[in-house]
Amino acid sequence: MNTRVLTGITTTGTPHLGNYAGAIRPAVEASTQPGVDAFFFLADYHALIKCDDPARVARSRLEIAATWLAVGLDHERVTFYRQSDIPEIPELCWLLTCVTAKGMMNRAHAYKASVDQNVAKGVDPDDGVTMGLFSYPVLMAADILMFNANRVPVGRDQIQHLEMARDIAQRFNHLYGRDYFTLPEVAIEEDVATLPGLDGRKMSKSYNNTIPLFEGGAKALRASVMRIVTDSRAPGEAKDAESSHLYTLYRAFATQAESAVFRKQLEDGMGWGDAKQALYEHLEERLAPMREKYVDLIANPGRIEDILQAGADKARKQALPLMQELRVAVGLRNLNAGAVSGKPQGKKDKEKGARFVSFRDDTGGFRFRLLAADGEELLLSQRFADPKQAGLLMRRLQSESADQVLQVAGEGYTAVIDGVTVAEAPEGVQGDAEARLTRVREALASLAQE
Ligand code: TRP
Repeated sequence: MNTRVLTGITTTGTPHLGNYAGAIRPAVEASTQPGVDAFFFLADYHALIKCDDPARVARSRLEIAATWLAVGLDHERVTFYRQSDIPEIPELCWLLTCVTAKGMMNRAHAYKASVDQNVAKGVDPDDGVTMGLFSYPVLMAADILMFNANRVPVGRDQIQHLEMARDIAQRFNHLYGRDYFTLPEVAIEEDVATLPGLDGRKMSKSYNNTIPLFEGGAKALRASVMRIVTDSRAPGEAKDAESSHLYTLYRAFATQAESAVFRKQLEDGMGWGDAKQALYEHLEERLAPMREKYVDLIANPGRIEDILQAGADKARKQALPLMQELRVAVGLRNLNAGAVSGKPQGKKDKEKGARFVSFRDDTGGFRFRLLAADGEELLLSQRFADPKQAGLLMRRLQSESADQVLQVAGEGYTAVIDGVTVAEAPEGVQGDAEARLTRVREALASLAQE
């Protein structure tokens, strides 16, 4: 069976060179691999969370769609659509919302960051926080689970969202007694280029240091390249290519042989002005043909619209049957169709149990959590290099006497096995430590019985 690769692009900005090299180019390349079914979509519902400027959202949808098509996305081969053209996605989002623990959402990084900022400012912790921001990960889970994606290529900042999608999927499958959803794997592209921006920090809209991909044409490209910071070495002086942002940018768009030539020129003392001109010309040569297609597409939005509509039809052919099944699963059934029989294979009491969930953290380490039946996080493990070791400790926590393993430590508690702390109370949890410890004991005891 083919691997389903799915990713979404939030439509709030204009694609820049960093987006292209870091996300768009590798995604388009991956979509041409044999055995891959790619789903790419414009996350325009997600855009509304961050942006209440309708003109900007509308423009960004157009620019992003045109960009993906212009750089060579084969829309016949992949499924390319807009999130907001698939009504099954918000429908699924609601079903998932109803099984998602609020406690888990409280721990979402994006939400926590807003709360932390508010607390630092001394205002209400939820000041300016919308339900959209708070439930962002549930909508993202719906995007992914709707199409039973196997792999989801995302940036590191999205790892937690993938973990949450897996957790929500597991919970739904468990509650409704069948594997309706595939558990998605996060795919972090380790060797794609992270480009430096004009100031040398990672190129990002939030640092305002981007180089446009197509917008503004050759002129804007050149003007940006001329603003890239360099050191103060004069023409004639040898340059250190490795530490030069110009070289990093060049390399992301060149063959090894081409990069070697540029490197040698820098080491031989090419002046920064000439180096910038060379970088600009090199980029322009590669981008110009794609830009031409982009400009043409932007001038013919009807063509893009048709492609996206066809993409939506294709996507809905997948989404609709699954959604129908899910409606039946949760009891939203046609009254003629035996509506009163219970869950398909309900296992009501057991499914409410506590559980361990394993995951990889943003350094690639293997960790696990113990969650209470209601999703509250009770323990967070240390980081392990070996997944087997993490699995083994998880089983030992389950089988050994909770009283021997659990220890009160400071404000919280820890789980200790063979004298080593293997897990701790999660950070930032409040409330009576003794009461929480009782919950941990109960959770471990219920697991030991399974
Ligand atoms: N949250 C993602 C981002 O900001 C965009 C996104 C929305 C997404 N839904 C998705 C990515 C589903 C992958 C899968 O980058």
